[in-house]
Amino acid sequence: VAGTLGGAGLSGIEIRHAEPSDHARVVAVLDEWWGGRHMAAMLPRLFFVHFRDTSFVAEREGELAGFLVGFLSPSEPEDAYVHFVGVSPAERGSGLGRELYERFFALASERGRSRASCVTSPANTGSLAFHESIGFQASAPQPGYDGPGEDRVVLTRAL
Ligand SMILES: CC(C)(COP(=O)(O)OP(=O)(O)OC[C@H]1O[C@@H](n2cnc3c(N)ncnc32)[C@H](O)[C@@H]1OP(=O)(O)O)[C@@H](O)C(=O)NCCC(=O)NCCS
Repeated sequence: VAGTLGGAGLSGIEIRHAEPSDHARVVAVLDEWWGGRHMAAMLPRLFFVHFRDTSFVAEREGELAGFLVGFLSPSEPEDAYVHFVGVSPAERGSGLGRELYERFFALASERGRSRASCVTSPANTGSLAFHESIGFQASAPQPGYDGPGEDRVVLTRAL
């Protein structure tokens, strides 16, 4: 999985399930990792309490390197949904984002899910390119998907 696009490489990275105590350290870096966008309000603690067995945290020597917050949809029996995925700027380009998704895909398909999905902003071209690289297909932008002015692209990938 290791790549050489400028990150530190995956050697030395440890990935485990999320814990409630991870919430504070994730929100502490979230806005910075998202280039100054205000994201923290979209990731309340409940995800680190009620969805921890389908969410992952990556660390290097105890420092947060990345995370993925997802769940198996209670309402859509085929679907495993990813709410947030982020990698520390210092760790990008080494395959960590892909590795976090691979963990989630394996877990979801073991539990009988046949499709992964997520949504992203049409303006987040890095996120779109990343998701397409790992096999997601993007919809056309959906105007107002998340409310007035909040357009989204819906991304899906067969498992
Ligand atoms: C998007 C993000 C999670 C990618 O993490 P990463 O660890 O750098 O990604 P990887 O190294 O695993 O890359 C996997 C593939 O995606 C591609 N990719 C990743 N980021 C990319 C970018 N910004 N632009 C173009 N391609 C990108 C890589 O080239 C790689 O492709 P390849 O395997 O075909 O060579 C990370 O840049 C990030 O946290 N961004 C800010 C938060 C965000 O927008 N999250 C997603 C929306 S919830």
